[in-house]
Amino acid sequence: MQIIETIKETQDVVSGIRKSGSTIGFVPTMGALHEGHLELLRKARLDNDLVVCSIFVNPKQFNNTEDLDKYPRTLERDTDLLKSVGCDLLFHPSATEMYPEKATKVYDFGHLDKVMEGKYRPGHFNGVAVVVSRLFDIVRPDRAYFGEKDFQQLAIIQKLVQMDQIPVEIVPCPIVREPDGLAMSSRNQRLTPEERRIAPFIYQRLNEVREKAGTLPVGKLKTTIESKFKGQAAFNLEYFEIVDMQNLMPVKNWTDSPDIIACIATYLSKVRLIDNIILFRNFAPLKNRQD
Ligand code: PAJ
Repeated sequence: MQIIETIKETQDVVSGIRKSGSTIGFVPTMGALHEGHLELLRKARLDNDLVVCSIFVNPKQFNNTEDLDKYPRTLERDTDLLKSVGCDLLFHPSATEMYPEKATKVYDFGHLDKVMEGKYRPGHFNGVAVVVSRLFDIVRPDRAYFGEKDFQQLAIIQKLVQMDQIPVEIVPCPIVREPDGLAMSSRNQRLTPEERRIAPFIYQRLNEVREKAGTLPVGKLKTTIESKFKGQAAFNLEYFEIVDMQNLMPVKNWTDSPDIIACIATYLSKVRLIDNIILFRNFAPLKNRQD
């Protein structure tokens, strides 16, 4: 596996590959890799001739400097993991390489970045869009892989690609979970053993939502879940929303949309965790499906 820190060298490698007619699969990450990331890479490996991963802790998408400073950086381990899944090229730029000048582009994603993560992390999705668009420009992949763990990010990237007519296929990948249901995240490393023990409460509540979706009214289900979080001192719920999967608008009735997802963000002590669960796809209830 090649490890490259400069844009120029990366462009040289990928343009050579492209000229030979080979396809390029791309997985952008911020490192501290876990099974969730590795699944994206495995999928990219199956679909493409060349697999490129980027590791860049993007300062522009952090609106909390403590979160940025504490973000785990584990490059040596990440390199070994990337080799183990057959990644061909790791692009690992510095902040000055990525941002030689102040990035000033402001995107208009309409409603998509005003709700949920966008509401609680102002500027976050603009920072994500700036870096992903720059990375696409450098790597020029045929396909790029994103996890449904960050469902709103995935919706924003799809919108970005559509608005800027970027010739890349966005491939969504399902959430990878720990055996007890906790969604894998680089932030899980920051949980104490006691916090880690209670963290599956989030997925348990999401499963409860899936069980009850369509039976209880939406508003009633929302308040039931919110009050269960209030009863747990270690959790500080930021939002719990039941929204249309396409436009992320909150639904009032189960018949408002054929595709409905429940999304959650909560602090567990000092660590902010997000998760989601699909409730209906094409109106079909998913509570009995195996996943
Ligand atoms: P990062 O948090 O490192 O995530 C990189 C990719 O891995 C994202 O597409 C994310 O959705 C996916 N991912 C993370 N945990 C997952 C899980 N448990 N199951 C499935 N997929 C998972 O997301 C970012 O980085 C950044 O915002 C980035 C897109 C790289 C831009 O800086």
